[in-house]
Amino acid sequence: MDRYTTLNYDVVIIGAGGAGLRAAIEASASGAKTAIVCKSLLGKAHTVMAEGGVAASLANLDERDNWQTHFRDTMKGGKYLNQWRMAQLHAQEAPDRVNELEEWGAVFDRTKTGKILQRNFGGHTYPRLAHVGDRTGLELLRTLQDKGVHSGIDVYMEYTVRRLLKTDGAVSGCVAYERETGRFTVFNTKATVLATGGTGRCWEVTSNSWEYTADGHALALWAGADLLDMEFIQFHPTGMVWPPSVKGTLITEGVRGEGGVLKNSEGKRFMFENIPEMFQGDYAETEEEANGWVKAVVAGKIPKERRPPELLTRDVVARAIRKEVLAGRGAPHGGVYLDIASRRPGEEIKKKLPSMYHQFKQLADVDITKEPMEVGPTCHYTMGGVKVDPETQASTVAGLYAAGEVAAGLHGANRLGGNSLSDLLVFGKRAGEFASKHANGISENPSINKADVDKIIDDCLKPFNESDGENPYSISEDLQKMMQLKVGIVRSESDLKEAVEDIEAFRERAKTVKVGGNVQFNPGWHLALDLENMLDISEVVAKAALQREESRGAHTREDFPDSEDEWGKVNSIARQTDSGYEVVKIPLEAPPAELQELLDKQIT
Ligand code: FUM
Repeated sequence: MDRYTTLNYDVVIIGAGGAGLRAAIEASASGAKTAIVCKSLLGKAHTVMAEGGVAASLANLDERDNWQTHFRDTMKGGKYLNQWRMAQLHAQEAPDRVNELEEWGAVFDRTKTGKILQRNFGGHTYPRLAHVGDRTGLELLRTLQDKGVHSGIDVYMEYTVRRLLKTDGAVSGCVAYERETGRFTVFNTKATVLATGGTGRCWEVTSNSWEYTADGHALALWAGADLLDMEFIQFHPTGMVWPPSVKGTLITEGVRGEGGVLKNSEGKRFMFENIPEMFQGDYAETEEEANGWVKAVVAGKIPKERRPPELLTRDVVARAIRKEVLAGRGAPHGGVYLDIASRRPGEEIKKKLPSMYHQFKQLADVDITKEPMEVGPTCHYTMGGVKVDPETQASTVAGLYAAGEVAAGLHGANRLGGNSLSDLLVFGKRAGEFASKHANGISENPSINKADVDKIIDDCLKPFNESDGENPYSISEDLQKMMQLKVGIVRSESDLKEAVEDIEAFRERAKTVKVGGNVQFNPGWHLALDLENMLDISEVVAKAALQREESRGAHTREDFPDSEDEWGKVNSIARQTDSGYEVVKIPLEAPPAELQELLDKQIT
């Protein structure tokens, strides 16, 4: 039997979440022979964890909303480190992408007059999140899947991609193995789109499921592509903290968007004391004012009051929760309280937040219509990723594109909730379009070097040949614990330096990692291979965090607690060198004058 099978495509998309599906639909519609290769089942993706909505300035609830305000909110939320052109395209194109989704069958919640309903979320000036209860990501995926399966796309489920292949400096395909059989396949392509999502499994407490082991980030890095701003990792403020088996499971920001409030063990709404200077004036400073806002929203009116501080950006809320817990004002299991029960009638809670109701009832035996939830930060999203051209999503390596969470630039130092779903729609479409254009310009599939493939396969099989090494589970657990402790919400030079050393030590242990059994569905082997991505990407996150000697957005340094003007003018780049991985600074491109004016303007 041959060692591997070779399949030829014009465009191969790695990943089958929202970005991958949207890219595949576009590539296929442009006539490209298209395949999706995904680690899990089609439609099983972190996209579903964007529960509360997709951000688009449809202005269905507040007619003052427009792309300019969405652009401004996104840049402010990202602490102005965003790639301005991506933020502009995203804000301009998100409404069309959401309307298109509706035409394809997405069933959004409705206003009384039949328009798509929108809700409030952190950092958004107006109610902007089009939603389907608290299952928006799931509905988005269902719609794209329905559309995709009728678009002539080939789907290879439960395939893990281990390496990208290059021919004459351009990406010419990838080597993958089928998880069930362990058989290897070479996908030989003219263009490749990475849509693999994030890196959350490198941390101990995360909303990410098992697939998110930094695969796409590592594939790009190993292929010589630049990674942008890897220090920025988002900790969503509200994950479950109890029972231990579900620690980290997401609780949608929609709970706070629907009026839920955060309290400490003394019953105090502590967010009023945590409004950063740059957001003062945007948020209510008294309970009375915040309650007036909620009352107006519930009554379907446009509030005159400022937003409650529970709707500050995620970086701010996550840090405030951590502070309360460290000060000894936390709840029994190390979180704080999130209370919607005392704010909205039970029937409304069940209608607006059905998944949250069932999640707490079934997993924690808590009735959220009667009692508060206990919540704490959970690693949720990777702002950093493959550096892409804003218009085309092309990476710095020819033939390689990226979209969705694996790509970087739109969100800057911190992502606003709901901007992930609009990101993957807007830039998934663009990646599919430009990858297929690139493929159209190539007459024949590039040749593949057999020796390269053989080497990759040999490396993949190495853990079966080790006799004295460790099992992969202990190394991955140690890595996750270390990242949580030393590269978490608050960082310091000494912790980060230790983290880099620890990773080196884990890498030494991983060199002789051993697995038993054979290549047929063997989770230990899969993890042994995933470890390589996790270690390399953890290293570049720690090095980028060490380099940025300031606090900005999701990156907080206790030894450099302020944002510094100088650091506001640079992005970080991580790349492979002959001796390992380096992180360097590059100048941030400033927006043109007319957009800068927009950013400087006061929102009324
Ligand atoms: O809280 C949420 O529903 C998550 C949304 C997001 O990450 O965009």
